[in-house]
Amino acid sequence: MKSETIRLGVNIDHVATLRQARGVAYPDPIEAALLAESAGAHGITVHLREDRRHIQDVDVYGLRRSIQTALNLEMANAPEILTIALDVRPDEVCLVPEKRQEITTEGGLDAAGESEALAPTVLALKDAGIAVSLFIDPDMRQVEAASALGAPCIELHTGAYAEASDALGRERELKRLIDSAERAYTLGLQVNAGHGLNLDNVEGLFVVPHLDTLNIGHSIVAHAVSVGLAGAVKAMLEKMAGYPT
Ligand code: PXP
Repeated sequence: MKSETIRLGVNIDHVATLRQARGVAYPDPIEAALLAESAGAHGITVHLREDRRHIQDVDVYGLRRSIQTALNLEMANAPEILTIALDVRPDEVCLVPEKRQEITTEGGLDAAGESEALAPTVLALKDAGIAVSLFIDPDMRQVEAASALGAPCIELHTGAYAEASDALGRERELKRLIDSAERAYTLGLQVNAGHGLNLDNVEGLFVVPHLDTLNIGHSIVAHAVSVGLAGAVKAMLEKMAGYPT
């Protein structure tokens, strides 16, 4: 059933990025997920990349055991990751394109061009009772291909909207998002969206109809540094207090 308000899936990949930068055990993505949940997040999203640059297999299994809200696993259409997904059984899997050299997921999946390769994966996930979503650009052809593949859900890539440098570009991207969301809804698909969203641009997106969930990661983790740094410095100063040189 559709909720009254748009739901928020918090992507915690970049908590793991910080951990991996040092090769230590902190910050813990599971702790971050539980904090996000206690703050009201409706779901937790992680991307298990083939190069394991941030989230690790152990994180995905740990999240499955720990969180109370929906676990959304982003993954490439790769046999090794599919095996893990079928073992972990997240609530949702979002299939995304993946390139080793990219900094983040740069574009949407070519659901139209790669339908043959995607079909068995979509089927295997659906057979396992996992809700499948395809991360696609706001393009009518891709929406229709996602529907033809039998995916119950799409996630519209909002990167071009978020990066539009002027009002005209932003309006053009919003129109593509609106048209794609309308078409997807008509086809009976759940419409999610995400990528590059932040406190400055998220409200502009609300003209797009039928949005169920927004998946937001980098800006939330980055903002957490701003709002949490003072407390972290105070905690260290408290430890140091009483030890004069
Ligand atoms: N949705 C998908 C499918 C993604 O691949 C990503 C990035 O991992 C996001 C949402 C979140 O994007 P951002 O970190 O820019 O908020």
